[in-house]
Formats: sequence, C-alpha cells, structure tokens
Amino acid sequence: MSDESINRSSDISFSVPFVHRLRVTDDVCGTDFDVLRGVLDGGDTGPARVLLVAETALAASLDRLVARLSAAESIDLVSQPIWVEGGEDSKNSVETIKFLLARINAADLDRRSYVVVVGGGALLDAVGFAAAIAHRGIRLVRLPTTTLAQADSGVGVKNAINFFEKKNWIGTFAVPWAVFNDTRLLESLSDRDYQSGFSEAVKVSLLKDESNFRWLCEHAEGIRRRQTDVAQRAIHRSCILHLQHITEGGDPFEMLEARPLDFGHWSAHRLEPLTEFQVRHGEAVAIGVAIDCIYSSKVLGLPERDMLAVCHCLTNLGLTLWHPQLLPFDRLLRGLEEFRQHLGGRLTITMLRRVGDPINVHEIDHGAMREAIETLRELQPQLQSEATPRIETSAFDSIDYSNR
Ligand SMILES: NC(=O)c1ccc[n+]([C@@H]2O[C@H](COP(=O)([O-])OP(=O)(O)OC[C@H]3O[C@@H](n4cnc5c(N)ncnc54)[C@H](O)[C@@H]3O)[C@@H](O)[C@H]2O)c1
Ligand SMILES: [Zn+2]
Repeated sequence: MSDESINRSSDISFSVPFVHRLRVTDDVCGTDFDVLRGVLDGGDTGPARVLLVAETALAASLDRLVARLSAAESIDLVSQPIWVEGGEDSKNSVETIKFLLARINAADLDRRSYVVVVGGGALLDAVGFAAAIAHRGIRLVRLPTTTLAQADSGVGVKNAINFFEKKNWIGTFAVPWAVFNDTRLLESLSDRDYQSGFSEAVKVSLLKDESNFRWLCEHAEGIRRRQTDVAQRAIHRSCILHLQHITEGGDPFEMLEARPLDFGHWSAHRLEPLTEFQVRHGEAVAIGVAIDCIYSSKVLGLPERDMLAVCHCLTNLGLTLWHPQLLPFDRLLRGLEEFRQHLGGRLTITMLRRVGDPINVHEIDHGAMREAIETLRELQPQLQSEATPRIETSAFDSIDYSNR
C-alpha cells in the first residue's frame, strides 16, 4: 500500500542571488589600491586571507602590488606570490591545476579566503578553475592583464582548461568575487596581444550594439595604435555588453541551446588546436567572426557591405583574417560537431541577419560554408591593400592624436 503523505515527485525551482563586482581603475597597484582593498573583506574573523597568483611576465610590474598587499592591515597575504608562466600553455596541462591546488592547500585557504589572480585570459581560466574546485569554491578576484581578458573573459562566469586536445573541455561555471579592469596593467602587452583582444569587442557589438560596431569601425586605427582613451572606451563598452548578457540575459550558466557570445567560435576553437595554439584566441576569433559573417551574407541576408565592413574593421585593428590551417575544409568542419557535443542537444550556431540582429540556426549548409572560407581567402589581397597603413610601435609616443 502506498503512503499518500509521501510526495513522489517534487520539482521545485529556486534561484540564488549573485553579485557581480566590476571596478575600473587607472592604477590598481598604486593610487587605486584602496579600491582593491575595499572588496577584500575579512569578515568577523580578522584580516582577509589572500593568495596572489600572477603571470611570470608581470613579476617586475607587480612589485608595488605585492608591497601594498603586504602592508595593508586588513589583509593577510598568506604566502609569497605564486608566479606561473601565462599563455595558453598554462591551461593545456592538468599539472598547472595540481600545482595550484597544492599551493592553495599549503596556504590553508578556506571558502572565505581570496585568490587574487593577475594575468591574461588563459591564466585566469586555469587559476579560476583551481579556485572553483578547491573546497568547492574559493573567492576569486580577477585582475585581467590583456585587452581580450578585460573586454570579454574577465567578467565571464566560466573557467576551464583544455583537455583531449579540445578547448575548455574541463571547467566550471563560477561567478568571480570581483573583477578589476586596470588601464596600467595593459601597458606591458605586446602589440600582437594588445590588438588581438579587440576581435571579441567586434563580436559582441555585432550581436548587440550596432552603433558601437560602427564606432569601432571608425576608431579601429586609433585602437591599433594604442590610443588609450579610444581603446579604453572600446574595452569598457565590450565588457559592459558581456556583463549585461550574463546578468540580464537570463542564461548565465548556458543551460539553454544558444550560446550567442560564441558567435564566430566554432571555427576559432577548432583552429586554435590545429595550429598547436600558435594562433591566439583573439586572432582565431577574428577569423571565425569573418567566416560566419561571410556565411551570413551568403545564406541569411546579412548585407554584403556590412560583411565587408566587419572584415575591414578587423583588418584595421591589426588582425590577419587567414591561416593556412583553415584548409582542408573537412578537417575544419569537425569544429561544428565538437561545438555541438560541448553543449549537447541540437547543433545551435548564432549567425547574423543584420548587424545587431543575431539568429540561431540549427543546420549549416556545408557547401555555402566551404564557399565562405574560399571567399575569405580571396578577399585577403583586397583587405590588406585597403587596410590603413601600419606604424612602428616605437612611433606611438611621438604621435599627437589630439587632432584625429
Ligand atoms: N572563460 C571565458 O569565458 C573565456 C572567454 C574568452 C576567452 N577565454 C580564454 O582566454 C584565453 C585567451 O586569453 P588572452 O587573449 O588574454 O591570451 P593569453 O592569456 O594567452 O595571453 C597572451 C600572452 O600575453 C601574455 N601577457 C598577458 N598579460 C600580459 C601583460 N600585461 N604584459 C605582457 N604580457 C602579458 C601572456 O603571458 C601570453 O603570452 C583563451 O584560452 C580563451 O579560451 C575564456
Ligand atoms: Zn572567445
């Protein structure tokens, strides 16, 4: 006989409040340090316990940060900073995670402690993953040091490492405690890494903000030349569009079919391992966005002039829209299946009908996609010849931008 007091099926939806803290600073290691100190709350149990993990490449420029963290009475810097070689290699091996977990354990961090990570998107991903699984989640404060990480991944709620030669195969969703977009931390970036990050800014504008896309087209040259006010605006607008998508878009943990922010990423994520990660994520995304815009213009009615505007904008930002590893086509196309597998369910790819008007498609016409890639190859000479001329890095300081 069944007991009628036992409810045998209970489906109860619930929601959990999160706070996303973004701070924009000029010099978080110096004059703006108090803004960082302000988010490191020790609670009732004394000073905030902090472990600093940072890119080796930044060691010299982080002296001031280490000194300030050590000197702050409200902060207990639990050990010497942990220096890790940044770049994609940092998320290409489980060894990085084992190493970080061992250091977190040795420092006795708990769930009210903080891991403060300073680095590019790859290191943020690896350290974010370690922090998310240690004790099921230690507070993570991100100080992104690349344009890509400030414009995009830093405010994201994902972390991951690469596995089985596939991008981001192991990872979690975890909301960071706070994110600091600091202008000065970008100064030591190479031109290549500086420029490549803006492909994500173009991507998110194409999806959500046509006027910002037009603005980026107009200011691409200034951004490429590292004109600070223009680049800062581009980064901030992109970051806010990403943040709004996460906090207001209704699907921060990507439970639904569509992943609109992954526009241009099916081929980008395939190209990165095909080039043994010689191509940067931002560079691969530029190519992926160009491919999907060409496809969108062939199949979904995106006006050709807009498709060309995208290609010119990316080229003027200093990005190259071709790589030999895009061929053979069939090998690249496996990226579509990997993309579907990653999410599960139906293949769902975001494309564009108009700038600012995305559409999700569930089938890709392979013939048209092959043509899109061929078109991209044929466009190269035209794009290069019409690109605004390049200048040498050493000339940056002597250029007066005020009249441009
Ligand atoms: N989690 C997410 O939501 C998300 C979103 C987008 C991208 N990503 C990931 O981000 C990674 C790409 O990040 P990225 O473009 O920042 O590249 P990156 O982290 O590989 O950094 C590029 C290079 O710049 C160096 N570097 C970083 N900051 C520097 C600085 N201030 N001065 C001098 N050198 C510096 C790094 O050591 C590296 O060699 C990819 O792995 C991508 O998958 C994650
Ligand atoms: Zn990306």
